[in-house]
Amino acid sequence: MPSHDLLAGRTVIVTGAATGIGQAFAVGAAAQGANVVVADMNAADETVAAVEAAGGKALAVRVDVADNASVQAMARAAVDRFGRIDGLVNNAAYFREVKLTPFEELDPAQWDRIFAVNVKGVWQCCKAVMPAMREQKSGAIVNIASVVAVAGQPGYLHYVATKGAVLSMTKGLAKECGPHGVRVNVIAPGFVITDATKNRPIEWQQSFLKARAISREQKPDDLVGTALYLLSDLAGFVSGQTIVVDGGHIMY
Ligand SMILES: NC(=O)c1ccc[n+]([C@@H]2O[C@H](COP(=O)([O-])OP(=O)(O)OC[C@H]3O[C@@H](n4cnc5c(N)ncnc54)[C@H](O)[C@@H]3O)[C@@H](O)[C@H]2O)c1
Repeated sequence: MPSHDLLAGRTVIVTGAATGIGQAFAVGAAAQGANVVVADMNAADETVAAVEAAGGKALAVRVDVADNASVQAMARAAVDRFGRIDGLVNNAAYFREVKLTPFEELDPAQWDRIFAVNVKGVWQCCKAVMPAMREQKSGAIVNIASVVAVAGQPGYLHYVATKGAVLSMTKGLAKECGPHGVRVNVIAPGFVITDATKNRPIEWQQSFLKARAISREQKPDDLVGTALYLLSDLAGFVSGQTIVVDGGHIMY
């Protein structure tokens, strides 16, 4: 993506930025002039190097979004280093561990953990950035859900339920945060090829391709433009919205 200055001087936190879609968001924000907080439970050296190569400043923070203390520390580190928080992309998720399972056979412990990361984690990250955004009277939060929350998907009920919660939370947050100048929106990606998904059965992958208006593989970079738009002033009057980015499969 060509470099511009949609986010010049802004600070954007991207959770789950060590790999995949989160890494693409981090690099895309840097290319638009943002300082990027590369937040992940795993080491994110590759993303930090890519952010710097794109001309941005990077701060790597180890965080488990399900753990409130580490989320609060992430927000403090962002303010200490860059002085402000303008954007938050809630991308981290319990996702690659999820296996096709009939709903009656789901493991209750996995049900609790997926809600702790995908739902409570989003809430905790929003809470952590809100003091800075409220003080600035501006901010943009982009939550990453999934088309499965819109269209349903057999065999992943716990995951589908968490992403449905992200859609609804986005609307509630948008109404509550709007008076403070903070916009909250959601991107619902289709099936994207990442390390988390590349080993899914090939017939399954191809069924998505065939159903799309734009019949090709979806890559992490296909989501970046929408995230940058929602983080930037171009979307200054857009809040509480769900944008499905899936090549025209689900028309929402
Ligand atoms: N790949 C797809 O087909 C697809 C489709 C729809 C939605 N999504 C969503 O997009 C996002 C990224 O997906 P991806 O394919 O890049 O997955 P991924 O597994 O490659 O990346 C997820 C990242 O989040 C991090 N992470 C996981 N749990 C965490 C936690 N508790 N705290 C902090 N970091 C944590 C992981 O270390 C990893 O770096 C997820 O929200 C996923 O649900 C993906």
